[in-house]
Amino acid sequence: MRVLVVGGGGREHALCWKISASPLCDILYCAPGNPGIADVATCVAIGAEDLDGLVKFSQDEHIDFVVVGPEAPLVAGLVDRLSAVGIKSFGPTKAAAQLEGSKGFTKDLLAKYNIPTGAYGRFTDVATAKKFIAQKGAPIVVKADGLAAGKGVILCQTVDEANAAVDSIMTARTFGAAGNEVVIEEFLYGEEASFFALVDGRTALPLAAAQDHKAVGDGDTGPNTGGMGAYSPTPVVDAAMHARIMREIVTPTIEGMAKEGTPFTGVLFVGLMIGTDGPKVIEFNARFGDPECEALMMRLKSDLLPALIATADGQLAHFDLRWYDDVALTVIMAANGYPGTPQKGTVITGLAAANEVEGAMVFHAGTKEETRGKDKVIVANGGRVLAVTAIGKTVREAQARAYQAVDRIKWPEGFSRRDIGWRAIAREK
Ligand code: AMP
Ligand code: GLY
Repeated sequence: MRVLVVGGGGREHALCWKISASPLCDILYCAPGNPGIADVATCVAIGAEDLDGLVKFSQDEHIDFVVVGPEAPLVAGLVDRLSAVGIKSFGPTKAAAQLEGSKGFTKDLLAKYNIPTGAYGRFTDVATAKKFIAQKGAPIVVKADGLAAGKGVILCQTVDEANAAVDSIMTARTFGAAGNEVVIEEFLYGEEASFFALVDGRTALPLAAAQDHKAVGDGDTGPNTGGMGAYSPTPVVDAAMHARIMREIVTPTIEGMAKEGTPFTGVLFVGLMIGTDGPKVIEFNARFGDPECEALMMRLKSDLLPALIATADGQLAHFDLRWYDDVALTVIMAANGYPGTPQKGTVITGLAAANEVEGAMVFHAGTKEETRGKDKVIVANGGRVLAVTAIGKTVREAQARAYQAVDRIKWPEGFSRRDIGWRAIAREK
């Protein structure tokens, strides 16, 4: 079959790597892709948010199945547009993607179906929002309702900070239209985890849990990023916790979405806070996490493509997936300046040597191929640039291999955290 993957980050490189190995896949395209993806797919210069371009390309090239990586095209309705012209795709409809696209929508759904999450309020005007903050006190969390590229969440230690966050989101419009509404939420304590399940509208097939490292600096210091590294599985989600997350969160969410007339199809990514009173939903995403996906794909033994097709076809009920027992761990290499303005165009070498480390695989995220003199070189072209992933028998072994690969990459203008996996390694002792 002819498959198109939409996106061009480390997540899409990992998805393309798995899909290209499927006997079902005859031709694989990726839009826009990146130089790493070009090793396993044909990259086409169409942006992930160019819905018209993607639909036209899919029709012209007789694409049988489209796999949508990032959230923006899902929330904009790419799956609906493709379905309208008879093309099957993996991902939620625009209505179901509201689980990621609107924090207010999600909080109301969670409340209605008694799914554990922090207490909250939704506000469209500044004065009422501030009155709620005055009543609740600090610490408290202020969130822009809509998509804000992972940046619309402000953790506030004082009432003054929370009031300033409301001003920034609703008055200064720091996140544009995402700030038409704010959600103000109870501050949750515990350990965070990401849980993934394929969902076909009615049935969920749990994938695996992972732990992301959002802060830019070692020891979880500094500003939040899209994720600086991840590993899977994570000891905080043991078998009992896994069952609890399915029972208390995933199943009622799927049932709730179906009852609301917006059944969810695709991958449900549950952002969790696991505290002393159990797992609570921080947020949902309607797509794979990045870099969690890179770690997950390295652990997946089964063919991914039939699972994605079964998801789209509503056929997950009798579907099963096999996993390697190994741990996979991903270290992000980012360009200096990230998560602010990253330095672009700097040359990266040593990628082949890094890929030779046992169990390691370098996924490309923000890279570009350029001609310098007579040579073609890989240069940095974004904030998160490489997702260096390795498998091992333990978190410690996967971590050692991943950093061995990182150290073979010669890129003075890039950096990575040196402590990915620290919580799990502390438990392995
Ligand atoms: P989100 O974009 O919703 O994933 O939020 C980004 C990060 O903010 C999360 O990964 C958490 O670390 C933190 N966060 C979000 N909501 C809360 C909350 N209610 N309590 C504590 N931390 C939170
Ligand atoms: N790594 C978190 C995310 O993809 O949103």
